[in-house]
Amino acid sequence: MRVDDAFREMYGAEPAGIWHAPGRVNLIGEHTDYNDGFVLPFAVPWGVTAAVAPREDGTIRLASLQAPDDTQVVEDLDEARGWARYAVGVVWAMRDRGLPVRGADIVLDGDVPKGAGLSSSAALEISVALALNDLYDLGLERMELAKIGQRAENDFVGMPCGIMDQAASASGKEGHAFFLDCRSLASRTIPFDLASHGLQILIINTGVHHELADGQYAKRRQECESAARHLGVPSLRDVTDLAAALKKLSGAERDRTQHIVTENHRVEAVVGLLRAGAVTEIGAVLNASHLSMRDQFQISCDELDVAVESAIKGGARGARMTGGGFGGSAIALVADDRVERVKAKALEAYEERGWAPPTFYPATAAPGARRIS
Ligand code: GLA
Repeated sequence: MRVDDAFREMYGAEPAGIWHAPGRVNLIGEHTDYNDGFVLPFAVPWGVTAAVAPREDGTIRLASLQAPDDTQVVEDLDEARGWARYAVGVVWAMRDRGLPVRGADIVLDGDVPKGAGLSSSAALEISVALALNDLYDLGLERMELAKIGQRAENDFVGMPCGIMDQAASASGKEGHAFFLDCRSLASRTIPFDLASHGLQILIINTGVHHELADGQYAKRRQECESAARHLGVPSLRDVTDLAAALKKLSGAERDRTQHIVTENHRVEAVVGLLRAGAVTEIGAVLNASHLSMRDQFQISCDELDVAVESAIKGGARGARMTGGGFGGSAIALVADDRVERVKAKALEAYEERGWAPPTFYPATAAPGARRIS
């Protein structure tokens, strides 16, 4: 069913409009966002579409085509459950900033592949944030919408994420990667034209999500903050002499610092290579990023490592896990004529281990959030 038809059926009225916000793939720059560092994601062709109408009272009614048995009527914001908390959290964050947001009737439709770690939650937040921004004439810029989405997730849902996913969803540009300095929030779009080089980014969705993921994310964040404190810098972004810093640290703090500092440099290297038109060359940097996440930041898992290794065996120019880690997807930079070999290698490797087969999607850089009607 289409989202506007569902809205009519559900609420017996026309939606005031329909908005779409995409998920994201992160090309490089992992766990650097909450360390005030650099990221280079791009928006993907899948996301969340929201049909929305404003309400005069403060009530939020929510339905999702993916959860037909779970429609919710929320008067006290804290009553919202599960998926609805991402939408209601946006209302909460807007009201908390003193913005004049009353109620809304909302129907959502999402098509981000399940368990792929492609930020369906940011897509949900930003689709609702953009709708409310338009309907209540809030006049907020894209980065402000991203901050509201992040605030909803941090303080209403309770996931201490950085700003990358929401920023990419709000501000991605078709055919471009989105470079963001997560301290100044200055951004640049970088032409990301793989097709003319006969290349593509292949998403390999492991389909797994290891339960420890959420606690481990918060733990990594704490370890980074504690390393920065020991080094006497505001954040790991500020480490300029890595060798000297590593001498002052030990254990997890040492390893985490090594990843974050080198990962920031890898983001800059990829930006430089893309701007020079040396697209194939980014492969080696993607590989280095994966090793750093596997060995120093320790956020990979067997399924991701096998996806990356089999992609390389199949002829990919480079591959790495993408996103928060402990499951979700890997991405591989692959020449068009090698794609089938890469898929075959990954399928074979999973089968050998008795794992459910991974799924594959070609990732193109899609536009960021927008009103579609
Ligand atoms: C998740 C978070 C982001 C970012 C990535 C890791 O996607 O939501 O803020 O920290 O993990 O790069």
